[in-house]
This record gives sequence, structure tokens and C-alpha cells, in this order.
Amino acid sequence: MISLIFCLAVPLAVPVAPNYAEHVAPILIKHCVVCHRPEEVAPFSLLNYEDARKRANFIVQITQEGRMPPWKPEPDYNQFHDARVLSDDEKGVLAKWAKIGAPSGDLAKAPKPPAFESNWQLGKPDLILEMPAEFTVPAGGNDVYRCFVLPTGLKEDRTVAAIEFEPGNARVVHHALVFLDQRGLARKLDAKDAEPGFATFGGPGFLPTGGLGGWAPGSTPRRLPEGLGRMLAKGSDVVVQMHYHPSGKTEKDKSKLGIYFTPKPAENIVGLLPMLSRDIRITAGEKRYNRHVEFTVPETVRVVAMTPHMHLLGKEMKVRAITPEGREIPLVWVKDWNFNWQDTYMCKEQVEVPAGSKFVMDAWYDNSADNPLNPSTPPKEAVWGEQTTNEMCLCFISIIGKNPKSIAEVRMAALRQMVTPAMLLRILSGN
Ligand code: HEC
Repeated sequence: MISLIFCLAVPLAVPVAPNYAEHVAPILIKHCVVCHRPEEVAPFSLLNYEDARKRANFIVQITQEGRMPPWKPEPDYNQFHDARVLSDDEKGVLAKWAKIGAPSGDLAKAPKPPAFESNWQLGKPDLILEMPAEFTVPAGGNDVYRCFVLPTGLKEDRTVAAIEFEPGNARVVHHALVFLDQRGLARKLDAKDAEPGFATFGGPGFLPTGGLGGWAPGSTPRRLPEGLGRMLAKGSDVVVQMHYHPSGKTEKDKSKLGIYFTPKPAENIVGLLPMLSRDIRITAGEKRYNRHVEFTVPETVRVVAMTPHMHLLGKEMKVRAITPEGREIPLVWVKDWNFNWQDTYMCKEQVEVPAGSKFVMDAWYDNSADNPLNPSTPPKEAVWGEQTTNEMCLCFISIIGKNPKSIAEVRMAALRQMVTPAMLLRILSGN
């Protein structure tokens, strides 16, 4: 009797006979249709019953394997805003629905998908930067990676609370990374050919002076908490690296970036601390090559976000801090790296890393023929660089220090510990 009452009192999370209208459609609307709708990046729509019914088993398989919705960080290793994860109950509903034959239920009861507006989600940006010209993406062939230089024309320093990216053509724009260049390095790269922008595969092709984050389909734009801002120094260029995925026909794109300034100059500046290892040499066939990078921070910093970055041989990246007492502070852990799904992960709570702590990064690579993404068949030795066949070992950590100057100091202290003096000179001169 007691157990009966208990059973009745607890709402059944997975109904005995889930149907599309009442149980499945709300899950697909919440987690999938932002990308799975016409004219978007996903290969098919999941907006109506028929779309979902004919793929019911496939949907179950892909969600059970954790491949969709795409979200790479391990869920229990640090907590991030806007995590795209299905709960066990939601997965259970999908599985049971497919098992009993994917019934429709009363379709009149199905919720309406939200109206997707192409307008700016955070309101009108303070500054809108647009690609200098339309870029033509070929119908087929390899993915295209290209950086575009967008001068800001700012006459004074500003602090940025958020960016919002508006893809000109969502069918082909796979993701975008937004860097800052105060040294005119990107303009030099751009001047090398007549076409707008310049080609680099993985990153911007130079060490940026800062960054404003990234965008991938389904990303939710978000303002930094009050009082925080990223520095956009006067005269800086914004450099947007676009990753285009050919759609089967020739497409054109002219994307826009909206910038939202902080209402008042931010008291705390969020700066970029690059963790990197330049001396990568992965012999052909090596299955689990590791780079281990660490440095000690001279002052207490607070971590706001992480942007892990590797190329096609990358398999796993784990970034953490270890306090002088030996306590581990989890930052980000991507166990199944996929170059197609990289993002800037914003911590739910700022993570304090006390002075004297070590930041530790481990990255693993698979340069064997078993890696389906290996760009070389047969595998070839891979070293640091910007080409498809090169590799990178990099994680941008967004931090707040005591003051804006201290970020530059922490950055230099960190770089000195991670690279040789000769390499430091090369990095600082933009090579
Ligand atoms: C952030 C965008 C995004 C979201 C959210 C998303 N998908 Fe996808 N989905 C894609 C893209 C893009 C592909 C094409 C393959 C790729 O690039 O990984 C894809 C592919 C798929 C595939 C085919 C996989 C294959 O191997 O061919 C299935 C099935 C799928 N998605 C189901 C879902 C379901 C179910 C959800 C929600 C629970 C979902 N997706 C959420 C973008 C998304």
C-alpha cells in the first residue's frame, strides 16, 4: 500500500505510451529544431510528425549514443551555460515512443514550434560589422575556412558585453570564431591576394590580441554578467574565421556580427589566456599522442570561459587547475573532440583559481588510419600549423585578473613557461 501511494504521488516521467503530439514534439522543439528545420545547417527537418516518424529509430540511436544534440564537454566536469543535453527521461520518452511504433497522438495537441526570427536576439547591436563582400562557397569539395578582416573604426577603447552572429546563409555557415587584432597582422595576410579575406584552416593564422568568442548553429547569445566586459581597444580589427560546409550547390554568404557594448566601461576586463604547445610532432600511425602543458599563475584569477582548439587528429582535451594544496579545479573536458563542433563554453559560475595554482592541459591525438577524420591516407607526420594536415594544441581561457594590466602580465608569465624564448619572440612578432 505504501509503495502504491508512493508510485501515485510521483509523476511518471516516462509515460507508458508516449505519443508524438504530447510527449515527443516538445522534446524535439526544445532540443533539435533550432538546427533541424529548413534552410538550417542540419541535413533534415524535424518540425513535423512525418519528419520524426520516419527517423524514429535513428533518432533513438543517435540520442542514446550522445551524438545529438551536439554538445562536447563532459556534463559533470564544470558547469556551462546553455548546455545542450537531453535528460535520461527525455531519452527514455524517445526510446519508448519508437518502440511502440511512433504513434502520432492527437496532432491538434502538438505544440507549435517557435517563430525563428532572423532579427537580433539581444536587441539591436551597438555596432554591426559586415563581411566586406559576398563570399562564394563552391557547390562541393572540401570545407572552406576563411578569415575576414572587419575594421571597427573605433576611436576609443570600448568594453564588450556580448556578440551576436547573423549568418548570411545558414545552409553553409558551419561555425565562426571571432578574434581581435590590434597589430595589423590580419590585414597583412589579407593583402596577399585579391579575394576578400585569407585562407587558414584551424585558427586565425596569427596570435590574436584578444577574442570575442565563437558562434555555432544553435548557440545562444549571452551577455557577460554586469561589470564584466571584453576589451575592444581603439583601432582594433575584428577577424572572423568562417567555416563553410558546401551544400551541393554554389552558395553566397555575407554574414554579420553584432557587438553589444557594456552600458558603462566594465570594471573587470575579461582577457584571453592562451594555453598552447607549439612543439607538436605526431608520427604517422601513432594512436594516442599526448601533449601536456602547464604553467603556474602568479596571481589569483577567475575563469569565465574556455575555447578548446585542435584540428582533425585531436581526440580528447582536458583542462584543469591544481591549487598549491593539490586540489583539482575542473575547467573543461572534451572526451570525443570533433573539429566540427567547437565552441566557447561559458562557465555558469566564475571559477576562482588561487595564486600559485598550476593550469594543466592534456591533449590526445590519433594519427592512425583508424581515425576516420585523419586528413592523410596513409597517415603522415603532423606538426603545428594552420593547414588541414597540421595540428594545433590550444585552449583559450577567458579570465578576469586584478586589473586589465595584470591580464597582460599573467599572459606573458604563462607564455614564458609554455614556450622557449625564441618561440616567444616568433609568437610576439606574429609568426
Ligand atoms: C546545434 C545544431 C543541432 C542540434 C541542436 C541538433 N542537431 Fe542533429 N544534426 C546537426 C547537423 C549539422 C547534422 C549533420 C551531421 C553533423 O554535422 O554532425 C545533424 C545530424 C543528425 C542526425 C543524423 C546523424 C548521422 O549520422 O547522419 C540525426 C539522427 C540527428 N541529427 C538528430 C538530432 C536530434 C534528435 C536532435 C535533438 C535531440 C538534434 N539532432 C539536435 C545539427 C544539430
